[in-house]
This record gives sequence, structure tokens and C-alpha cells, in this order.
Amino acid sequence: MKTSVAIYPGTFDPVTNGHLDLIGRGEMMFDRLIVAVLKNVEKEPLFSLSERVEMLREVTKQWEAVEVDVFDGLLVDYARKRGAGVILRGIRAVSDYEYELQMALMNRKLEPRLETVFMLPGESYSYLSAKLVREIAHLGGPLTGLVPPVVEQRLRSKIT
Ligand code: PNS
Repeated sequence: MKTSVAIYPGTFDPVTNGHLDLIGRGEMMFDRLIVAVLKNVEKEPLFSLSERVEMLREVTKQWEAVEVDVFDGLLVDYARKRGAGVILRGIRAVSDYEYELQMALMNRKLEPRLETVFMLPGESYSYLSAKLVREIAHLGGPLTGLVPPVVEQRLRSKIT
């Protein structure tokens, strides 16, 4: 039997319940799931890289097969280095498709042995994004059900 290692890459600024839903689904499907946080020098994130990693480790600690790591440079190079054969990405709605298609095909061009697998998060998360979560937090709106409680606390203390 093949051991399947998948990478779930992203910015995770911050991790939402939608990300967690996908991690839970990926964890059931792959032998090992590496949640890889992009060290992006161009974007100015709300949470530092180490804060994002800390929150992810906290909310995924119940899954033994899930690891949280950091990467920079090309995702295909990181996947090669980690011996992963799959990139896992979530598609919430048709609007995600174009961007995801472009990335998946470019990654395939760069590394044909790497397969992108798309999964659908639970439908109750189909409208959820880290960007909207940050906006709601900035404007003092309720975050219950959108992010794990530990992330909600971090958001509140960061923003107030
Ligand atoms: O959560 P995001 O911000 O949509 O994730 C985007 C991410 C991290 C998957 C993408 O920006 C990425 O893979 N960046 C690494 C650089 C890279 O490999 N670029 C070419 C992608 S085709």
C-alpha cells in the first residue's frame, strides 16, 4: 500500500473553522497531512508567522497524522523536499475555481508528479474566509462559529 503524504498549503491568517473542516477531511483521507503555512514577505498579515503556526498547532493537536510546518519559495520544491505527492486545496464556490485551476495547472507544469486534490468544505463554511473574519473582528462583530475559540480570543486581543 502506498503511503500518501499530502500538503495543505495556505496563509491561514488566521485559521478558520472552514480550514479546520478541510483538515479533518484530509486527515481521514491521507496517511500524513502537512499543513504548510506560507512565509509570505509580500503580504502583510494580521498575525505573525509564529502566531499563525501556534494557533494551527493548538487547533489540530487532536490529530496525530497532522503536522504544521512553514515553507517559503515554490510549493512544488517544498512538496518534493517533504516527499509529498498531493496538494490539498479547498473549493468553496465557483468563484474559487479560476484561481485554483490556474495554480493547480501551474504546479502541474512545474512538477507533473504532484497531484492537486480539491475537497469541498462543509456547506455551512462555503461563505467563510479569513479575510471576512479579520474584517468582522476589526468591526467588533460576532465570531462565534467562524473560528475556534482560541483564535477568537487571539483576534479580540490583537484588535482591541
Ligand atoms: O491561502 P492562500 O493564500 O490562498 O494560499 C496560497 C498558496 C500559499 C497556496 C500559494 O500562494 C502558494 O503556493 N505560494 C507558494 C509560491 C508558489 O509556489 N507559487 C506558484 C504557485 S502556482
